[in-house]
Parts: sequence; structure tokens; C-alpha cells
Amino acid sequence: MLINNLFARIEQNKAPIQNAFDRVMKSGWLILGPEVKQFEAAFADYIGTKHCVTLANGTDAIELALKAMGVKSGDRVATVANAGMYTTTALLAIGAEPYYLDVDLTTRNTTLSEVNRAIAAGVKAVVITHLYGLATPEIHQIAQHCQQHNISLLEDCAQAHGALVNGQRVGTFGDAASFSFYPTKNLGALGDGGAIVTNSAQIAEKVSQLRQYGWTSKYHVEVANARNSRLDELQAAILLAFLPQLDTANARRREIATQYNDCIQHPNVIAPRWENTEFVGHLYVIRSMHRDNLRAHLKDAGIGSDIHYPIPDYQQPVFGQRFTSLKLENTERLAAEVLTLPCYPEMTDTQVAQVATAINDWPTQF
Ligand SMILES: Cc1ncc(COP(=O)(O)O)c(C=O)c1O
Repeated sequence: MLINNLFARIEQNKAPIQNAFDRVMKSGWLILGPEVKQFEAAFADYIGTKHCVTLANGTDAIELALKAMGVKSGDRVATVANAGMYTTTALLAIGAEPYYLDVDLTTRNTTLSEVNRAIAAGVKAVVITHLYGLATPEIHQIAQHCQQHNISLLEDCAQAHGALVNGQRVGTFGDAASFSFYPTKNLGALGDGGAIVTNSAQIAEKVSQLRQYGWTSKYHVEVANARNSRLDELQAAILLAFLPQLDTANARRREIATQYNDCIQHPNVIAPRWENTEFVGHLYVIRSMHRDNLRAHLKDAGIGSDIHYPIPDYQQPVFGQRFTSLKLENTERLAAEVLTLPCYPEMTDTQVAQVATAINDWPTQF
């Protein structure tokens, strides 16, 4: 069994995919046309923001949103180090300095006290990553504190399309939010894609300029450090076809995660927990002190798994000696213990039970 199965999604959606493809081919309009406009309006409406600007991918979304918020080379920006290096990559592209926050062992997301530590250290902006499909439980208070201190807040929602906390959708708490539509995301295209959402007309306008060479009008360049980062019409048409299925797919992911939690019982395995938030099950991630042994056991049983993520950002080789004195206890523990099990809407109950049984059958002595 694979960790994910995009073939199953494509098979189940042959007709809407064909329809989207035909519509774009008939229009002959391939870049920044009606499909992109319609998807931007539909996605902003779904999230509950005034604006959505689509981009080529989720990493560009983080970078261009931060630039539009005024983050510049040399600025310090707070981020977690357990979320796959994407925000750090965006910061490095800007020339900004990452200020790393530790995370909670249970939610795997950061906390208000960590954000306050960063505010005290003088960060210009904070990026909150809602990891694995779980909204950061203290996002409301974090947004309030950032506002009080005049610090920009970007939510990275690449793993949390549709997640709610106390009834409010992630993506609506900060000054802007970034999304990825990478194919395996809860809302995924058939290629790369990304977007920012915001209630700020100024941020939306700036990102629109940054995504297209810095143009303020055609061939008139006023904005520096811009690029080409556009979602194409075909991907927008596909996303328009998939968006109405997002809530149902999220509910199925949650159902699978709940089924796992009900069935997995092993003294060396810690299952994830979610309270007061509408978890959207992007990744079902367990913990074990003997993670690598468990992974090998699952492989022998024919079950794919993955590690999200094995290396804290500040320990990545690209940094050399830069962060050798930094130690974030929970981040490092999670990097050594996390293991992602298959969790995607097309999985059957039988497959979920098969994975859970394989875990329960994992010997306690080895
Ligand atoms: C949390 C998070 N942020 C950002 C990204 C970057 O998105 P992309 O791969 O579309 O650049 C991803 C996904 O890959 C992600 O999981």
C-alpha cells in the first residue's frame, strides 16, 4: 500500500478533469484568464477573505506574501523548524533571518509563549504553520499579540485547507495566508500551484505585481525583486472542479484518522490528538521512540510510510555552522520520532484496518 494514491483520485474524477481540460482548450486562453479569476473568487469565498491571488506554488506564496508585508533582506522572521524547510527557503530567498520557534509535543504546532519569545527578540514578522491539517490551537491569541506589537502575521495553510479553530477557518487570522496546491495537498492540482489569501487590498495588489515581473501595468515595471509565478488556466480549472469536494474529502480524512486512533493500540506508539479544532487529516502522524524499526516492520508488511520531517530546518547542511548552538528540544524529539501513515480520502476502511493491524502486530521486543 502506498502512502498516497493520486491515481485513485484521477480515476474517480475522470469526467470533471476532462471537462476542465476541454473548457480551457476550447477557450485557447492558457495563462491568467477566466479560470484563474473564477478560482480566485471561489477560493477567497471558501476561506472567507476578500482577496485571493494565485501563484505557481506554495513556497512562492510564502515568499511573495512576506515581501508584500514589507519583509526585507536582514529582517528577522519567526518560524517553526519542523515543517519541511519551506518557510526557511522563502526566507533565504528574501535574505531574511529565520528565528526558530519550538513546538508543542502533542499538537506539533507552535505556541503563544514561543511567539512571545520571538516578539521580545524583535522579529519583524511571524509565520505560523498549521501542520499536518491541525490548526494551531492558540492562533487567535497569537494574532492578537502580533497585532498589539505591530508585527505582521502570515499563516502557512499549505497542509490545512479548510481546517477550523473555534469555528473560524485558518487563513483568516493573520494579515495574509499562503496555500500550496501541490497534488497531494487536501486541495491539490494536477501539477504545482499556490495562492495567498488576504483581506488587505494592498497586500493582494502587491502580490499580483510580484507574481508578474513587478508590472504595475503591461511592460511597466515599478516593483523590484519580482518574478514570474503564475497558476496556469488548466490547473485553475482543475482546482475549480475539486474545490466543491474539499469538505467531503476532509471529512473522510478525519474519519480515517479517527478510525486509526480507535484501532491503534501499542505501548510504543503515540497517536495524534486534536481537540477544539476541526482537524482536516492532511497527514496522520504517529510517534515512536523506535520509529525506524516500526517503519521497517511496516515495509515488510507492504505498507508505505514517510517521515515529515526528518531534519529540523536549522540542522540542514545548507546552514553549515550557523545554528550549531541552537537546540529546540521538542522539534528535535519529533524529528527523531514522527512517522506518517497512509491517510487519503480514497483509502478504504479495510486498508485503514490493515495498517492499524500491522502496527498492533509490531513486536514490543526486537
Ligand atoms: C507546510 C508547507 N508549506 C509550504 C509548502 C510549499 O508548497 P509547494 O511545494 O507548493 O512550494 C508545503 C508543501 O510542499 C508545505 O507542506
